[in-house]
Order: sequence, then structure tokens, then C-alpha cells
Amino acid sequence: MSSTSVWEYQGCLFPSVKYDTASLDYAWKEFEVRDTDVFNITYPKSGTTWMQEILTLIHSNGDPALSHSVPSWERVPWIEHTSGRGYLEHRPSPRLISSHLPAQLFPKSFFTSKAKAIYTVRNPRDILVSLHFFSGMTGFLDKDEDLDQLLSKFLRGKVIYGSWFDHIKGWLEVKDHLNLLLLSYEELLQDLRGSVVRICDFLGRQLDEAAIDSVVENATFKTMKDNKMANYSLVPKEFMDVQKSAFLRKGISGDWKNHFTPSMRESFEAAYKEAMKDIKVKFMWDSCQEDGITQR
Ligand code: A3P
Repeated sequence: MSSTSVWEYQGCLFPSVKYDTASLDYAWKEFEVRDTDVFNITYPKSGTTWMQEILTLIHSNGDPALSHSVPSWERVPWIEHTSGRGYLEHRPSPRLISSHLPAQLFPKSFFTSKAKAIYTVRNPRDILVSLHFFSGMTGFLDKDEDLDQLLSKFLRGKVIYGSWFDHIKGWLEVKDHLNLLLLSYEELLQDLRGSVVRICDFLGRQLDEAAIDSVVENATFKTMKDNKMANYSLVPKEFMDVQKSAFLRKGISGDWKNHFTPSMRESFEAAYKEAMKDIKVKFMWDSCQEDGITQR
């Protein structure tokens, strides 16, 4: 597929499928955030689908009926997709909403609301590897490139949703003024139950032990991989071909070490060090433990 598969809106690249100027304008300028809304915000390949599952299950008090009968993209739809308005405008509260948007293109009404948001971060090295395999299985992203070429684009922000560095820095800049919980993919991996409890506390949801157990059991990699409402096997092959690479591919941290060459490692580290030098939040992957977030 040629590079025309992505296009630019306000300086940021978007896939040509599921997005257009009207949908991005709507999300940014018109979407009316309600105080009861709960947002699942991520840079792509950071655990969006995982959080969609966790939020659905928490809001269903651990009952998996909804997460096993309705596709994840309908349960916790993206505001910025062309289908966003249709799914969300008349949906009763509380609405669960996904978004990959950078802070500067996020619904303006969010910033004056009391809505809650969970921002899930992931080691960008693993995001890059995940994105590489994802690009190879979709029919709407460039796939004529090896990981080295993708790394170069990633470091220049010439990938969907723009620069990872800008995304995280933009959200970190505004987080203290918002109802925003910062979580990491690595924390979810390390302690899913503890993370679910944290999310429940943040959302003010009181689930009993059995309900929490059920959320955890139904949000494991294995259960989700077998759940056709979460594993993208329902999507027509021309858009996503799970035979080429499963959407729930490996579900681990540190896979980048299996794919980065020494020179890729070197260029990534140099770019990361420079771009993140003023960031106050310290991620555990920065200190070789590769898990979670610690505040400096
Ligand atoms: P990998 O490609 O590294 O396996 P997103 O939903 O933001 O597109 O992110 C997709 C990534 O999250 C994939 O990573 C996928 O396997 C991983 N993922 C989804 N559900 C998961 C789960 N329950 N446990 C661990 N990883 C999960």
C-alpha cells in the first residue's frame, strides 16, 4: 500500500479509513463531554483494547455478558472515528469512550468538565514493534517497510497519531488540571488485579471481591484472545487479517529486545534521551525494570 494510506489533519497523521475532516472536527470542536463520561486515552498500540475490556467489565460489575456479545469498538467507541458521533451522541450515561487523540486535538469541552480519563502509557519500543506487526495485518496502513524504516518514521512522528513523544508530553502537561489517572501497560501486566482495584477506586465504583475476580479473569490476554468481540476477528479480512498477525499478538513487555538491532537501539536511545530530558514522570522502563510508573 502506498503512503497515501495516511493523511494529515492539524499537523498529525491519521489513517484514511475511519477518519475524515468532519469526524476529527466533530471530536475536537463539537463533541459535548458529560461530567459522567469515562475516557480511555492511549497512543495507538498501548493497551487500548485491554482498557476497553477492563472498563466494560467494571461497568458491568464483572458480568462478562456485554463484553462477550458486543464488539469492543461499539462498547467503548473512539470519538474521532467517523462512527463516533452515531455511537455516542444519544448514548445514555455513563458513556465509556476511547480516543487516541493528542491533547491539543481532544474535545475542547473535556477540559472544562469533570469527566474522568485514564491515560495508559506503554514502553514506546514495544509500541513500535506492536505497530509494525499491526501495520502488516491491516489493509489501511503502509506495510512496505521493515522495522528499521518504521523506527525512523516513529522517531520523526511520521506515523499515525503523530509523535509518541509529543503525545505523552502533551497529556502530561495538562494532567494535573484534570481527573486523569496515569497508568502503564506494564503495571497492568505486572498486577492486573491491583490495577483493576485502582481503576475502580478512581472511578468511584465499588465492586465486591467476586466481581473483581471476574473482571480480572475476563481481561487476561488468554480470555481476550479467545473473545471474538475483542480480538478483531469479526473485522473483514481486507481491513484486518488476523491470519497474518493476531491483533492480540504477544501481550508482553520487552519484545522490542527480540527485534531491535544494535544500531536501532542506539538511535532510539539517543532520540528518547533528548526528547524526554525535561519530563518529570519517570517510567520504570527508564530504569531498566521496565514496569510501571514512578513519580520523581
Ligand atoms: P502486542 O502487539 O505487543 O502483543 P491497542 O489495543 O492499543 O492497539 O494495543 C494492542 C496491544 O495490546 C497488543 O500488543 C496486544 O497484544 C496488547 N494487549 C491487548 N490485550 C491485552 C491483554 N489482555 N494482556 C496483555 N496485552 C494485551
